[in-house]
Amino acid sequence: MERKIYLDNASTTYVSSEVLNEMMPCFNAIYGNAGSLHSFGRSAMAIVDKARDRIKEGINAKKSTEIYFTSGGTEADNMAILGVAHAYANKGKHIITSQIEHHAVLNACKQLEKEGFEVTYLPVDKTGLVSLPDLLHAIRKDTILISIMAVNNEVGTIQNVKTLAKIAHDYDIIFHTDAVQAIGQINIDVQDMEVDLLSISAHKIHGPKGVGALYVKSGINFEPITFGGNQERGKRSGTENVAGIAGLGKAVELATKNHIETNRKLRNIRDYFLEKLSENVEYFQINGHPHQKSNAIVNISFYGIEGESLLMLLDLAGICVSTGSACTSKSLLPSHVLEAMKVPADIAQGSIRFSFGTNISKADVDYVVSELTKAVAKLRAISPIQAGRI
Ligand SMILES: Cc1ncc(COP(=O)(O)O)c(C=O)c1O
Repeated sequence: MERKIYLDNASTTYVSSEVLNEMMPCFNAIYGNAGSLHSFGRSAMAIVDKARDRIKEGINAKKSTEIYFTSGGTEADNMAILGVAHAYANKGKHIITSQIEHHAVLNACKQLEKEGFEVTYLPVDKTGLVSLPDLLHAIRKDTILISIMAVNNEVGTIQNVKTLAKIAHDYDIIFHTDAVQAIGQINIDVQDMEVDLLSISAHKIHGPKGVGALYVKSGINFEPITFGGNQERGKRSGTENVAGIAGLGKAVELATKNHIETNRKLRNIRDYFLEKLSENVEYFQINGHPHQKSNAIVNISFYGIEGESLLMLLDLAGICVSTGSACTSKSLLPSHVLEAMKVPADIAQGSIRFSFGTNISKADVDYVVSELTKAVAKLRAISPIQAGRI
């Protein structure tokens, strides 16, 4: 059988058997509408409530009612940014975010600009970190919201969210973080991090696609962006995706409970990969912060070649990786993250993101490095650019 090695876990993950077991009854035995008053409906609502409690526990929220279910990370980000902006527009119309956010945040901000809001997109340093002086400098009297992601999806850099949130609160500004890539990678404790809103998505943590959640600290207001039957306490209309929500609850429970062990495994495998790579391949750079980064994500620029061609050759060998961020990897635009980190365009175009899962063995890594070594050599042989000259 053809060998398949999946190194694109930052794009999506397989659904774990524990999560699947949790979801299965919701497709047939417990198929009620969670909004119905009869016993079928109450059984479905009990599942939704259980998932809400699990997420509350997993991220250490104070109350279950601080969790709102959404259709994924994108909707959670949109709901946070548009929702807070609309609710506090009478206080001010300025928002701060960073240049390396996911497009779910960036494009929500672009939408607000069309509505008359002003947005400052903070630069990052070459490791992908937002600087505190830059943030302080950007804050204005009319700033109502700061949104900075916890872990970057392309390079894995971990921001100093707690410090950034503290600064926001010193100026009475609401703080949101996109923690879609952070949950299961770093300890998520919304009270300790002092964040007001936090987005999560199930499919990055062995849950199903199309479901996520937004944590909103009690007392923080936000306007809904969907209108209908007033589910989720009027904040997110639409019949609850009971099976998806059950899966998300279990996935968050497992990801948060196991994150130390998961990280140990991921660090071992990531370090082994980098060690083998250094022994076999020349002329590459690792993008992202040297230490303050997710153990799951490694972004590497191979000098003198194109990432897309490398991706194709690896795919032929059964190895799945990505260039740029998954959601935009079909676009040929250079990565906005690497651009913001001032990675020169000719280097950025040779970039590949390897994102590991705990199911990867050392033997898998040996195979990946051996195929990678061959593919890089093949592409360099036909490249007009000499890798050693970059
Ligand atoms: C950091 C980040 N935010 C948001 C999203 C969007 O999440 P979803 O795919 O659940 O809409 C992603 C997915 O790639 C992501 O990596």
